[in-house]
Amino acid sequence: MDIFERRESQVRGYCRAYPTVFASAQNARLVDEKGRSYIDFFAGAGVLNFGHNNPRMKTALVDYINNDGVAHSLDMYTAAKARFLERFEEVVLEPRGMPHRLQFTGPTGTNAVEAALKLARKVTGRKTIVAFTDGFHGMTLGSLACTGNGLHRAAAGVSLDHVLRVPFDGYLGEGVDTLEALRRALRDPSSGLTPPAAFILETVQAEGGVNVASEQWLHRVQQLAHEHGSLLIVDDIQVSGGRTGGYFSFDGMGLDPDLICLAKGIGGYGTAMAVLLIKPEHDQWAPGEHTGTFRGQGLSFVAGTEALSYFEDPAFSEEVCRKGERTDERLRAMVEKHAGRDFALRSKGMIHGLDLGDGALASAVSKHAFEGGLIVAPCGPGGRVMKVIAPLTIPDGDLEQGLSILEQAVDTAVSA
Ligand SMILES: Cc1ncc(COP(=O)(O)O)c(C=O)c1O
Repeated sequence: MDIFERRESQVRGYCRAYPTVFASAQNARLVDEKGRSYIDFFAGAGVLNFGHNNPRMKTALVDYINNDGVAHSLDMYTAAKARFLERFEEVVLEPRGMPHRLQFTGPTGTNAVEAALKLARKVTGRKTIVAFTDGFHGMTLGSLACTGNGLHRAAAGVSLDHVLRVPFDGYLGEGVDTLEALRRALRDPSSGLTPPAAFILETVQAEGGVNVASEQWLHRVQQLAHEHGSLLIVDDIQVSGGRTGGYFSFDGMGLDPDLICLAKGIGGYGTAMAVLLIKPEHDQWAPGEHTGTFRGQGLSFVAGTEALSYFEDPAFSEEVCRKGERTDERLRAMVEKHAGRDFALRSKGMIHGLDLGDGALASAVSKHAFEGGLIVAPCGPGGRVMKVIAPLTIPDGDLEQGLSILEQAVDTAVSA
């Protein structure tokens, strides 16, 4: 591991929690250079919804490369991009009656968020974005201004402006309407607030500690946004692509976001791609006005097209719900086992947050889990929430074994 310490920047993070060199991976398993196998409950922070080296995608990718398919194309037309767009229309947009267009941005999530913020400001001619406590939207300056995490914000080195921070659903305790103060202020011409360009939110705050917004609250945000001519941006980067059961995390809720940010899992194989979905009336970009080199990634189009086929089989979503419920059951048993500790559990589909209430304890759990052969990472304020996001394709045996390792890790950390 000398080379990493000698030459890789201090900024490296996850590798410090999992100090080994990984050499290969298959579905929900990672294997290190010494041949030790680990169950993956982290899945590339939500990238690997279909597991490592998904065989369907691997075959499609190898065929594409062997046929000299175009690997990179800026934003020129390619057959692979056409196929992806056609399938996205057929599988995702048309069944939901969504008129949205796709803007391919630079390949990471923050690129899609930056495009959304810039477009909302252009369309409305306003500056302010409403963002929520514990929200996570990326590390570039516009997205970072919307992100809550103090460590990340402090690294900006410049002021992070034009964002109004509002408490997320549940932040002020159960039953408190966190939007009331803003609602009143926006209706009061003497409040000092002017209407924002947009509201940006995650329906499930993943990095923020797995905070699940209620459907009613989401509708209230949408109503407030539209009452004041603001756009609703849903950042679905971590929890779309089947993570909560449907394609979008808000499927079946009757929400109608103006802009939707997608990244992580949309490229299928870990091949990077980010997309901004735009309602046609807001697609007011001039040609080439917002650009980026890596917007035409042939391998991501090919693997991403294959990923879409999973959503044509209703059994896939049923499986996600079944495994999610089973995980929930086992995590709930851990909460009950340590009843005196005030642990809490928050879940939706196959994203779960076991809130241990203490960052040091969560860090110890992560360490013991790693020693036991499980990759699982803390998130949330002070890193106190164990986030369980296994690949959606994880076999039952690995899921059960991983949960047993986690249970043992919690027991060990608690009794230390
Ligand atoms: C909801 C959400 N938005 C944006 C991002 C930023 O994505 P990226 O790290 O690919 O820039 C993330 C990353 O974790 C995220 O979870």
